[in-house]
Amino acid sequence: MGLTKLWAAWLVAAGCAGWAGTGVEFNRDIAPVVYEYCAPCHHEWGAGPFALVTYAQVRSHARQIATVVRSGFMPPWLPEAGYGSFQDELRLSEAQKRLFEEWARTGTEEGSGAAPAAPAFPDGWALGSPDLVLKAPKPFKLPASGTDVFWNFVYRTGLKTPRYVRAVEIRPGEPKLIHHSNLLVDRAGTARRREAAPGAGFPGMDVTLERTSFDFDSHFLFWKPGTIVRAEAPGMAWKLDPGADLILNSHMQPSGKPEVVRPEVGLYFTNQKPAKEPMLLELDCDWQLEIPAGDANFVVSDRFQLPEDVDVLGVYPHAHYLGHVLEGWAELPDGEKKWLIKIPNWDLNWQAVYKYRAPVFLPKGTWIAMRYSYDNSERNVRNPYHPPRRVMGGDRAVDEMSHLWLQVLPRGAGDGRLAMKEALLRHRLARNPADFDSEMGLGAVLMARLDAPEAMPYLETAARLRPGDAEAHNLLGGALDRVAEGRAAEAEFEEALKIEPDYENARLNLARVEAREGRFDAALGDYRKILKADPGDEAATAGLARALEVRGGQLEGLGETVEAEGLYKEWVAVEPKSAAAHDALGRTLEAVGEYGRAVTEFEAAVRLEPGNADYARHRAEAARGR
Ligand code: HEC
Repeated sequence: MGLTKLWAAWLVAAGCAGWAGTGVEFNRDIAPVVYEYCAPCHHEWGAGPFALVTYAQVRSHARQIATVVRSGFMPPWLPEAGYGSFQDELRLSEAQKRLFEEWARTGTEEGSGAAPAAPAFPDGWALGSPDLVLKAPKPFKLPASGTDVFWNFVYRTGLKTPRYVRAVEIRPGEPKLIHHSNLLVDRAGTARRREAAPGAGFPGMDVTLERTSFDFDSHFLFWKPGTIVRAEAPGMAWKLDPGADLILNSHMQPSGKPEVVRPEVGLYFTNQKPAKEPMLLELDCDWQLEIPAGDANFVVSDRFQLPEDVDVLGVYPHAHYLGHVLEGWAELPDGEKKWLIKIPNWDLNWQAVYKYRAPVFLPKGTWIAMRYSYDNSERNVRNPYHPPRRVMGGDRAVDEMSHLWLQVLPRGAGDGRLAMKEALLRHRLARNPADFDSEMGLGAVLMARLDAPEAMPYLETAARLRPGDAEAHNLLGGALDRVAEGRAAEAEFEEALKIEPDYENARLNLARVEAREGRFDAALGDYRKILKADPGDEAATAGLARALEVRGGQLEGLGETVEAEGLYKEWVAVEPKSAAAHDALGRTLEAVGEYGRAVTEFEAAVRLEPGNADYARHRAEAARGR
C-alpha cells in the first residue's frame, strides 16, 4: 500500500514539473547520469569518440544520445539484468532513458541550479604513484589500416625479492586504439621463448602459458575502455616472484594513421601477505566448436561438479565474433538454480570482467553450467567471413572460443585449489579424451603433488599427441627423472632442446641429470650455455658451481692440477663469496708453486670464513712455502 502511494506521488511530482514548464534540466537531471555512466569513457583521454563532460558537449550530442541510450548501444553493458548482480554496472533505468529523451525533445535546457562537479580525469595514475612502473621495452608500430592487431608486450620486472601486488593499473597506450588488454603473469618463461629478442614482444590473440612451473592463475588482470582501477580487497593481494615476467596481451585497432603504442603497467605493492587464495576456474568448450557455415544457432555446453565449497567473486565470459548468447549458471544440490551471468547479445568489443556485488556461495556438489550459442550466418554483422565459412575453435581472431572463467575462493581449511584444478582437468579429459592441454595440465598438477608415477601416462600421451611440443618432452623428462629413469629422462630433455635450443628449463634439467650421472663435462657445457644467455640465472649458477667443485676435485685427485685450477678459477668467478672455492683454487696454485697467489686465495677464504681452522692452516703453510 505504502509503495503504491509513493509511486503515485512520484508520478504526480514528475508530471507536474513537466507541465509547469521547468522540464528536464542538464544541471539537475542529466549531468549526474552522464558523469556516472558516460564520462568514464567519454572524456579527453577516454575511449569514446568525443567528450561528454561539459554542458555544451552533451548538448551538441543530445539527439544522438537519446537514440543510443534508447537502443541500449550506450552505455555498453552486456549482462542482462537479473542474471547476477555486479559491481560498477553500467545500466540505465527506464526513467533515466526517458530523461535523455525528454531533454532532447524539450530543448536541452541547462537549468539554473548548480551542476554536480564534473569528474576530473587527471593525466596521472588513478591510485597515485605506483611502487613500480614498467614501460614496454619496445613500442609497437600500429599500421594505419587493416584488421585488428593482437600483440603481446613483455615486461621483465627486475624484482630481486618477491612482492605482494595489491593493485595494477594498466595504461594500455592511446585508449582509442585499444580494445582491451589482458595482463598475464608468466612464471615459466613462456614469453621469453616466443620473443625473437628480449623485449621484442610477439603476436597472438590468446596466449597459453607454459605449465613447466605449475602455478595458479588467481586474478583477472584486465583493462578495457572505462575500466575503473580498484585495489584488490584486503588479504587478496597476489605474489609476484623475481624472474616472473608480465605479458600484456593487447587487442588494438588501426586508427587511419600510423600510430605508436607503448603501454605501461603500474604495480602497487603491500607488505600484507595474501590471506585468501583465489583461483580462476575455467570451463571451456573449444573442442566442441566446429560451426557450420550459415548456422545461426550453434550451441555448445558443459557442466562441472564442484568438489568443494566456494565463493564466486567474479566472472569473465569469452568468445570471439560469432558468439551470440552466453549463459552461465549454477545448479545447487537442493535443486535451486542460480544465474551467474547471461549475455543476450555478445559483442567482443565490450567484453569485460564482472565482479559480483557480493560473493556468490556455491556448496560442494553444485553443478556449474555454461551454454553458449554462436551465429555463423550472413546476418551476423560481426562475422569475419562473408560469405560465412566453417569456423573451428582456435586462438586466432577468426577462430572461435568458448570460455567461462570464474574467480573462486575455495572455502575451508588448507589450499583447496590443487584438488579443484585436478577435478576440473579430469572432467575435461573425460569429456574430451586425448586432449593435449588437459593431458598436459593433469600431468603438471600431478607433478606439483610430486606424484610422478601417476603423472607419467598423461605426459606420455601428451608427448605422443604433439611430438613437436618441447614442453611436453620437458615435463615428461621431469617425471622420468623423478622415478629415477635418468637415461630416459635425458633423452626427453634432449628432444625438447632439439625442438627449441633456447629452452632454458629443459637445458637446466638436462645439466642436472648429466651431473648426477657423472658426465660433468656435458653438464658444465650446458650450465655455461644457460648462463651465457641469462647471466643472472640462480639455479644454473648454483648448478655450475657444484659441477665445477666436484669435477675440479676429481681432476685434482688424478693429479691433473692445471685442469683443476682452471675449473676452480671459474668456480671463484661464479661464486666469489664461497670460501671453499678460494681455498680449492689456493690448493692448486700452491701445488704448482705459485705460493704468492695461493696465499691471496687462502686469505680470501679466511676472510670469508674466519672460524675455519683448515683455511687458516693452508694460509700459514703457503706463506711458509713462499
Ligand atoms: C565503456 C566505455 C563507454 C561508456 C561507458 C560510454 N560510451 Fe559511448 N562510446 C564508446 C565508444 C568506444 C564509442 C564508439 C563506438 C563505435 O564507434 O563503435 C562510443 C560511441 C558513442 C556515441 C556515438 C554513437 C554513434 O552511433 O556513433 C554516442 C552518442 C555515445 N557513445 C554516447 C554515450 C552515452 C550517452 C553514454 C552514457 C550513457 C556512453 N556513451 C557511455 C564508449 C563508451
